[in-house]
Amino acid sequence: MAQNERSLVIIKPDAVQRGLIGEILARYEQRGLRIAALKLELITREIAERHYGEHKDKPFFAGLVEFITSAPSVLMVLEGPEAIRIIRDTNGDTKPAQALPGTIRADFGLTIDRNLVHASDSIESAADEVANFFGDGSIIDYTRAIDSWINGD
Ligand SMILES: Nc1ncnc2c1ncn2[C@@H]1O[C@H](COP(=O)(O)OP(=O)(O)O)[C@@H](O)[C@H]1O
Ligand SMILES: [Mg+2]
Repeated sequence: MAQNERSLVIIKPDAVQRGLIGEILARYEQRGLRIAALKLELITREIAERHYGEHKDKPFFAGLVEFITSAPSVLMVLEGPEAIRIIRDTNGDTKPAQALPGTIRADFGLTIDRNLVHASDSIESAADEVANFFGDGSIIDYTRAIDSWINGD
């Protein structure tokens, strides 16, 4: 079967404030992804700056950190075959105006400043991002009875 991967996913403050946690979580669950960790948290400035460190020299960095720390987010670790690619495709293009209909960012968003969700973009960054948000090790290793019906193994 395809390689099992983990991704760090954030339902950002705009989606939480708009009451979209359930809608968005349902899409990941329906896709077949397994939730390995899940929490509601007000992200601290220190963790936000580390998370978005690759963008620290960009003009939008300060506003991005301000926004992501302004209200609670839902943080999770999702697992599944090729989860990195599958979740980014489920989320859609960074710019909602360019996201395909049926993706989260197209179906619920309009602008890059409020694009609802984050997902890791590689196996390496996922490992760093998971450690940044779930450094306490609160990730649960388990299988579901239905996993073989979803994954074929
Ligand atoms: N030009 C921009 N103006 C405002 N915000 C931006 C811009 N580019 C990126 N962002 C914000 O920074 C986040 C991280 O950017 P990036 O890593 O390029 O996208 P993605 O979230 O799709 O991985 C985006 O989701 C968006 O919230
Ligand atoms: Mg990114």
